[in-house]
Amino acid sequence: MTRKYMFWFIVVLLALSLALAACGGGGGSATGGEEVAEQPAETQDPASGGDPEAGKAQFDTVCIACHGPGGVGVEGLGKPFTTSEFLLTVSDSELLEFVKTGRPVGHPDNTTGVDMPPKGGNPALTDEQLIDIIAYIRTLHE
Ligand code: HEC
Repeated sequence: MTRKYMFWFIVVLLALSLALAACGGGGGSATGGEEVAEQPAETQDPASGGDPEAGKAQFDTVCIACHGPGGVGVEGLGKPFTTSEFLLTVSDSELLEFVKTGRPVGHPDNTTGVDMPPKGGNPALTDEQLIDIIAYIRTLHE
């Protein structure tokens, strides 16, 4: 198998260098024989692309009580987002899951001894609204 691929690799290389040599002198269009542009294989995170403005409006009614204006945190309540290591390590989808589940006092990752309630204690928040909130939170890190 590998040898076969090697053979074709060399054939393609030779063909490419011939094509390049042919184009080189004439000053004509040099588009022949160019490599195909790489396709970005990146898949879009479904929890990305929220509207940070709408998210701020939601944040300022629900999350602000514990996380403070602009996510600076409130001593004895919610953690600051401005310096959060956690926020740097999670994807938007993971963050969405997190906000929907919360982090109760008994959770091994809980550091404050205070509940992070599911959806900040507002079960009416839809995924779409939470995705907007996430887009807003992403703007707060210093
Ligand atoms: C009743 C208070 C309260 C409300 C309201 C609240 N949170 Fe929290 N949140 C907390 C507490 C307390 C923690 C920290 C828990 C711990 O000790 O790890 C936290 C942690 C977090 C974290 C993790 C931060 C980190 O660095 O670990 C995120 C993200 C978060 N909250 C998002 C939200 C969002 C979004 C909302 C609004 C929908 C919200 N919170 C509303 C109390 C609250």
